[in-house]
Amino acid sequence: MNLLGIVALSILAVGDANGDWEAGLKAEDLAIRRWRKGMRNSCVRLNEGAKCIKIGKPCPPGTEGCCDKFSCWKRNTRCCCLKPETTANPTTVPTTAEPTLEPTTVLRSDCHVVYDFEDQDLSTWNLTGDAFNNQPTYGDNPHAREEGRHSNHQGDYWIGTFENRPGPNYPAGGMQGEGPQGTMTSPSFLLYAKYLKFLIGGGCVEVYTPVHAQLLIDGRVVLEETPKSCVDKMTEKTWNIATYLGKNAQFRLIDKSSAFWGHINFDNLRQCQRMLIG
Ligand SMILES: *[C@@H]1O[C@H](CO)[C@@H](O)[C@H](O)[C@H]1NC(C)=O
Repeated sequence: MNLLGIVALSILAVGDANGDWEAGLKAEDLAIRRWRKGMRNSCVRLNEGAKCIKIGKPCPPGTEGCCDKFSCWKRNTRCCCLKPETTANPTTVPTTAEPTLEPTTVLRSDCHVVYDFEDQDLSTWNLTGDAFNNQPTYGDNPHAREEGRHSNHQGDYWIGTFENRPGPNYPAGGMQGEGPQGTMTSPSFLLYAKYLKFLIGGGCVEVYTPVHAQLLIDGRVVLEETPKSCVDKMTEKTWNIATYLGKNAQFRLIDKSSAFWGHINFDNLRQCQRMLIG
């Protein structure tokens, strides 16, 4: 899945009869900027009667936790929406209950995938050169070539510029080798979390190989990782991106090497630990 809809930036404005108002920018469920006069801690989307309450406290009578994209601006709060009018029409009652999500709890927890390549779609990326032509690659291809070797990828698909196995119907162990070089740059996405995590491998410290993973803001490299493990096995790298919260960024992979170990392995780019501003 790409981006999880996080590029959907929306402008919200809520006013009331007292002339108080609240306006803000939201990306998905995240409030990234907020301005308000008078209004206190209201649920973001206009939902008459909705209330923000502390996480952990029960919803007031007549309300229930909203399992939609309602969220409060304030930290550690969640929205309680007015209960829908109960109609006596049994045909509208769903037979299986939808799983109930507590949006603000979910948002704060864990990691959201930015790119894990499982959709095999690089069409929105800017590819240069030919290193990324046969990507993403399928399965533990290094293992297919050599016992004891592993890619440690997540899911089925990952990026490996030595590999040439774009799917299960291609020969296992297929490779394009170290020759091809190129770059692969993502569309811009909003940084909303404290950490950016990813799996990275390839490169080699003994023979410096110019392969890099980069984070770009306004086209400038602000963070860079140069894998130099001399193994295909990817390991997790964590960047603290709190400084860049609310900014749009791009991710870039670079393979500018045809030398021994001159390839990059990459997978599972995630944003972890959502943060709110304002
Ligand atoms: C694609 O990426 C290359 C290398 O980073 C860059 O020079 C080029 O301007 C980019 N093209 C577009 C359309 O963004």
